[in-house]
Amino acid sequence: MTASAPSHQARHFALIPAAGIGARVGGNIPKQYLPLAGKPMLQYALDTFAVSAAIAHTFLVVSAEDGYIDDFLATQPQLAGKLTVLRNGGATRQDSVLNGLQAIKAQLGADDWVLVHDAARPGLTAELLERLITALHDDEVGGLLALPVVDTLKRSGGAPEHRVQATVARAALWAAQTPQMFRYGLLTRALEQAHAQNRVGDITDDASAIEMLGLQPKLVEGSPRNFKVTLAHDVALAELFLKT
Ligand code: CTP
Ligand code: MG
Repeated sequence: MTASAPSHQARHFALIPAAGIGARVGGNIPKQYLPLAGKPMLQYALDTFAVSAAIAHTFLVVSAEDGYIDDFLATQPQLAGKLTVLRNGGATRQDSVLNGLQAIKAQLGADDWVLVHDAARPGLTAELLERLITALHDDEVGGLLALPVVDTLKRSGGAPEHRVQATVARAALWAAQTPQMFRYGLLTRALEQAHAQNRVGDITDDASAIEMLGLQPKLVEGSPRNFKVTLAHDVALAELFLKT
């Protein structure tokens, strides 16, 4: 054991931002509650974390105005004792994540790991979760699931013409997924600093805030099935994955 090693075994917690409305997917309920192959979208990720022996507890961040969460929880007895709902979601995903982190300050140590996972990624599996945790367990920085880009990438000159300006080299490009796994103290500091510097608008994931500190999160290979349900046509695609 080195002098800098934490004195206790770091635990792993899940933090799931679910305070969005799903404007792009459309529909008349927030997308995290949309039925997918017979179950609400949110249930998939919550169940994956709940059955994982590596996860000490899950925190779910919802909007204070969420009118669906209580009825949802009433149908999920398997989550009792494994899940705490935080009703302090913010205006953006990063606000919701930071509000959640601040609300659990008394329950976590600075060295404990937090796995931030979008409620809108129902395709996370136990295998992917284990791959991420195993790859990062002794990492100095932390990291995220991500997928190497396989498509040829074109930069558009903009609407309405959409003429190709350039082909972008894809060799080193990965598309970020979640969970994104960082130590509680580091992630909270990174997001607080992004806020203080008014740079939250520049970031769409947790790793970006860590990168702003000059650190380099590790990319761990994810899976196509862990994609984010974002547009209306994603619903049918998610159901294809979730049925198999
Ligand atoms: N999220 C959140 N708080 C917000 C916005 C988003 O907790 N103010 C969550 C969403 O609920 C989702 C995740 O962040 O689980 C990823 O965000 P996204 O896919 O953009 O979901 P929405 O913001 O709900 O969708 P849209 O942007 O289409 O409205
Ligand atoms: Mg959004």
